[in-house]
Amino acid sequence: MIISQETIQAVQRVARIEEVVADFLPLKKKGQNFWACCPFHHEKTPSFSVSSEKGFYKCFGCDAAGDAITFVQQIEGTSFVEAITYLAQRYGIPITSSQEGTQDLQGYRTQESLYILLNLAKNYYIDLLWHHREAAKVALPYLQERAISPEIAKKFELGYSLDQWDGFYKFAIKKGVSLDLLVAAGLVIQNGTKVYDRFRGRLMFPIHNSNGQPVAFGARHMAISPLSNAVDGPKYLNSSETVVYQKGRLLYGLAFAKQAIKQTNHCYLVEGYTDVLAFHKAGVQEVVASAGTALTETQIDALSRFTTKVTLVFDGDQAGIQAAFRGIDKLLAKGLEVNVIWLPSGEDPDSYLCKVGVDAFNHYIRCFAQDFITFKAGFLLNQSVEQGPVEQAKVIREIVQSIVAIPDEIQATLFLKKCSKRFAIEEELLFTTYHALRHQTTAVWQQKRIGASHYGRQKSSPYVDPKNIPFTSKLTASIEAYEREIMRILLTYGATKLSEGQPLYAYILLELDDVTFRSADCKVLFDYCKAVFNKGDLVDMQCCLDSTEESIKKIAIDVTALPHDISEAWIKKYGIYTIEEGQNVQRMSLEVILRLKIRLVQELIEENRAALKEELSEAEEARLLQVHQLLKHSECSIAKQLGTVVAQ
Ligand code: UTP
Ligand code: MN
Repeated sequence: MIISQETIQAVQRVARIEEVVADFLPLKKKGQNFWACCPFHHEKTPSFSVSSEKGFYKCFGCDAAGDAITFVQQIEGTSFVEAITYLAQRYGIPITSSQEGTQDLQGYRTQESLYILLNLAKNYYIDLLWHHREAAKVALPYLQERAISPEIAKKFELGYSLDQWDGFYKFAIKKGVSLDLLVAAGLVIQNGTKVYDRFRGRLMFPIHNSNGQPVAFGARHMAISPLSNAVDGPKYLNSSETVVYQKGRLLYGLAFAKQAIKQTNHCYLVEGYTDVLAFHKAGVQEVVASAGTALTETQIDALSRFTTKVTLVFDGDQAGIQAAFRGIDKLLAKGLEVNVIWLPSGEDPDSYLCKVGVDAFNHYIRCFAQDFITFKAGFLLNQSVEQGPVEQAKVIREIVQSIVAIPDEIQATLFLKKCSKRFAIEEELLFTTYHALRHQTTAVWQQKRIGASHYGRQKSSPYVDPKNIPFTSKLTASIEAYEREIMRILLTYGATKLSEGQPLYAYILLELDDVTFRSADCKVLFDYCKAVFNKGDLVDMQCCLDSTEESIKKIAIDVTALPHDISEAWIKKYGIYTIEEGQNVQRMSLEVILRLKIRLVQELIEENRAALKEELSEAEEARLLQVHQLLKHSECSIAKQLGTVVAQ
């Protein structure tokens, strides 16, 4: 669906960043901004700031930044269109599509209709579970037998489908739902002239997307049902894939776990629907299930948006655990910390909880988790005790392969050392294998790194932490700092009209015409602003936020967001005063521009002076001295101007 510009603009205008964020996190007002613990990385003291005035958020801990739309995208893991849709719905803004999007609009309408229908179905099944005779005979005793309390059943919106061919079909048709939509939702099967319910005589587990909207069902047959004719089918009959349900993209239980995962920065990963319920019964809410499939890349991405730590819970008789190892490496490669719990033989979380009770269950999951590397090493070495050196070497490679997947080199080293100690493998052997395997994957690695630094996330910005600037000389640092400062002024006050009637942005961009920016970020942003200016458009924060380039948006936010304490450090360190900021923007801009220019000249003087110290021919020396004179002259004249500006 192509959403019209009008809708996007209406959302941008109406959505208040602090309201949108507050739907997800508790915000505290401090000074001009709101603050919270960042939902995108784990922290104990808040470094996530929300500026209602500027309309964006920024985390000073992990660099996450953006406007209301980006926030929804990041926190919900949704696309731009989904985020706009969410915000439009939140603020009651009508969603219109652009002309060429009519076909997609159709798709969008289908999706909306599916959601409505799936909700209808969910409520229909819930109603039957609690109020129908048949359920009272079959389903409620089943829940009781499995120790699923009404409270848990209601939380997960469990339901019951009658043991009839057309119970739901008739109900839905009466409500005016079309047969096509019923089939598209995977609730009704059409086979030639025969039309019948997909789910019959089963306990219904709605499968929700991360927003809590049901998108499919997992329906369990109940072995104890004397009525059920579905026993022949699979234990769990799932909805077929539809426009709104792709199996490998969802994690069962995520909607109920999101908050807890963020709070604990941790998530248990189990296999089945009832295992998720078991954790909730035990009071542990940070749990999701892959629900019958191997973990996919999309699922891992969804998880890593909420947490950096996962614990896999394996059934005691887990078949094919070795086959799962490669998949687990994918978690490590995303930089996640992976732990493993191996349940006693024959148990899954649900059966184990029923057997030992809440306290023992909690004790077990807290005390028997071990890191994946150690677990894997133990598992493989245990299997190969009887085997010869060739087999042993293979096992060591297998173990090290997982360590290679860990992006953090220090962590990887610690694991190599741990494995060496724990399993009495020579450290050197492990390290040699590590470097050999690492070498093989270097190409992939480097690509990843390039990807990661795409936004130029270097920490050299004085706004991140002025104490930690890894500068080669103080001079260089301040050049970059001034660059940022002038870009901040440009974006914050760009639209201000100067006394001559010209806008500030035109003044700044013309003044900076002969300057080449040093920092990569500022250069990208500056070039973008110049391009906008050359097109004759207005240059300010909004034009950056409107950019289709995520990196422009991000750098712009980065440059303009300035927490108070750092700005004070900035004033002390670089002697810029910001008290009258906004009152005399032209003077302020000129001052920063002159300070930037003077630093650039001073740097050239330094370089020239260094060159003069080398062994030189007479002619060369004379030339450099002349250069020195010229540079000194321009330093002097800039300083004079600066003096007048500052003294004003
Ligand atoms: P299990 O067979 O381990 O079932 O399948 P379970 O979760 O322990 O279920 P109970 O306790 O017997 O009720 C694990 C998961 O695999 C998927 C389901 O998501 C299930 O929860 N599965 C299993 C299916 O989709 N279809 C099946 O027929 C079986
Ligand atoms: Mn089970």
